[in-house]
Order: sequence, then C-alpha cells, then structure tokens
Amino acid sequence: MSACGAAGRGERAAVLCGIGAALPATVVSNADLTARLDTTDEWIRSRTGIAQRRIAGADLTTEDLAVRAAAKALASPASVPVQAVVLATTTPDRCCPATAPAVTARLGLTGALAFDLAAGCTGFLYALATAAGLIAAATAEAVLVIGADRLAALPDPDDRTTVPLFGDGAGAVVLRRGTAAERGALGTVVLGSDGTQADLIRAPRPGALQMEGAEVFRHAVDRMSTAALNAAAAAGWALADVDRLAPHQANARITGFVARQLGIPEGRQLQNIEHVGNTGAASLPVLLAQAAADGRLTPGHRVLLTAFGAGLTWSATTVTWPDLPTPPQLAEGSPAHDR
Ligand code: UT7
Repeated sequence: MSACGAAGRGERAAVLCGIGAALPATVVSNADLTARLDTTDEWIRSRTGIAQRRIAGADLTTEDLAVRAAAKALASPASVPVQAVVLATTTPDRCCPATAPAVTARLGLTGALAFDLAAGCTGFLYALATAAGLIAAATAEAVLVIGADRLAALPDPDDRTTVPLFGDGAGAVVLRRGTAAERGALGTVVLGSDGTQADLIRAPRPGALQMEGAEVFRHAVDRMSTAALNAAAAAGWALADVDRLAPHQANARITGFVARQLGIPEGRQLQNIEHVGNTGAASLPVLLAQAAADGRLTPGHRVLLTAFGAGLTWSATTVTWPDLPTPPQLAEGSPAHDR
C-alpha cells in the first residue's frame, strides 16, 4: 500500500472548494425488479440496504452525467477556474477517445489537461490523489475531479444476484491550491490494489458482469477498514475524533461492518445507498454532496472517506469539511433528479 501524502506539500495542498452531483430522473424500485426477477423487496433490503436506484436511459450517457455534476461543482459559490479535469469511470461511453476531454469541451474549458482514470468503485479517491499530485507539482492551480458511472449497464439483466445492486450517477468536486492547515485540505490519500484477485469482479463487456459476491464482501470490509485506519493515523486523528465516516456505498451491511470495526457509531456514518444503490466512482461525491446539502455534513466535521472496488483497488483519506456555502442546486426543494 502506498500513500500520496500531505507532508511536504507546503503551500501546495489540495483544498476542496466546490461540489455537485447529478442523478438520472428514472427511479427503479425493488418492486419494479420483483416484477421481472426471482427476488423480493425483503431480500434486497435486508441483504444490501437498497430500496431503489436511479437508472440512466440510453439517452443519458456517462459523459452527460459527468457534465451535469461538474457544471454544478464549478458553479459552487467558492469554486475557482480549473486547469485540469480528472474523470474517474469504469463505464466510459466508448473505448476511445477518453470521456474527460469531451466533458471539458462541453464545460467550455477546452485547453485544460483532461484524462480518464479507471479504478473501479475506488476511482474517485484515486482521482483525488491524482489531482492533489497535479496541484503539488504546480502542473495546475485547481483541478476538477469527477466520478461518473453507469454501473446499471454492467450486470446481465436476468442476473438477480447483481442487478439489484447497481445504479447510475455522477459527482464532482473542485480542488484548489491552498495550505494543509486550512479546512477542506485533503489529507494523505492511502491507495492500494491487488490484481491477483481481479477475477472476483469482472465485466468483459456491458451486460456480462460476474462477481463472487461473498468473497468481494469479505475483501471490501477488510480493505476499507484497514485503509481508513491508515488514513486516520496519517492525519493524526484518533477514530473517536471522526465526526463522519463516508464509506463507498457498496452494501449497507459492508459499511456497517466497516463502521463497527473502526468503532465509529452508526449516527456518524453517512449513507444514501437506500436511494441510489452502488453508483461506482460517483458514490462518494454524490454522498458528500447530498449530505452537505441536507445538513448531515457541516463545516468543521472531520470526515474519513474510504472506498473499495474492482481491481481489486482500495483507498481512504481525510478532510475537515470546509465552509462551502450550500450549493443552491442541491438545496431542499430542488428537482429530485438534481439532488
Ligand atoms: O463496490 C464493490 C462491488 N461489489 C460489492 O460490493 C458486492 C459485495 N457483495 C455483496 O454485497 C453481497 O455478497 C451480495 C449482496 C451480492 C449477496 O449477498 P450475500 O448475503 O453474500 O448472499 P449470497 O451470495 O451468499 O447468497 C445467499 C442466497 C443464495 O441462495 P442459496 O444458494 O443460499 O439458496 C443466492 O442464490 O441468496 C440468493 N440470492 C438471492 N435471493 C433473492 C442472491 N441474490 C438474490 C436475490 N434475491 N436478488
């Protein structure tokens, strides 16, 4: 396991200054699934914590979702102009070219450096680490980081063991150059992978996802807990100092085990899987955007983020939540598909 650390970054720490999220309007409930799959609402809720997920139709691409979330992050009141765009996705709309340059062009940012990054459901944290590196190296003063996925396209539509788990969405943040001491400064990002277990989650093409669910479950709990412990230690935080645990929303039982292993009370755990399912690289930024908008996350909260995904990959980091004015587009009363 390695780490992209805050130490030595001096005045070139990466500081969170904007956030946004976008979800498709179409809701697919567990009841909708029971109409076509041999499953029950009770099984899905009790085994995963999921009640519904948002699904993108054919007319809503990964690129579209990324643009919507990114536009909101860039419109955040404290946001700044960016010179780089890093887009984490496992489900690009095509093999080539990458999605990020197209997203960058649609945002009116043509000329900014832009590339995709694939690290499964851990992609957003890998992208944060990459963005922090671009800022530390003085390649950019500010970076737009996007996590966008259409994971619902990966399972075989007839596979009851994987279809209920996944949803579609995108989330984005803006990181700017700042100091390690200010609120919003990203802590050390702990990163790791284990390709010897690659076959546990594999999708040779959309519609052909295969997953060894129970084994993945075990690795997810172990890797997310350990990475979180290491990230908290790197920040000099005792686990009792953590105000909010923000775990990748893979399965409510997985995140429950992680919280218990870390000794973090349930009330300090951020969760939205009930409403969105597992949205891959979008999972953490959507969770943070929603929690910031509805008051579960407030300035000064010490947030411990942790994620796990295909690869296998894992990561964790810390951030003290900044004084981000609540983005108007995420406020209560905005259209449900925009929250
Ligand atoms: O971001 C990382 C991506 N992946 C994950 O995070 C997934 C991690 N794994 C999981 O979340 C869980 O392993 C699952 C939710 C996929 C499965 O839960 P489980 O408690 O591990 O169930 P299981 O796979 O051990 O299956 C238990 C039973 C089986 O029946 P038998 O063999 O005991 O008769 C399955 O066939 O549940 C059956 N089953 C279902 N029954 C009703 C599996 N899926 C369903 C279903 N409805 N949808």
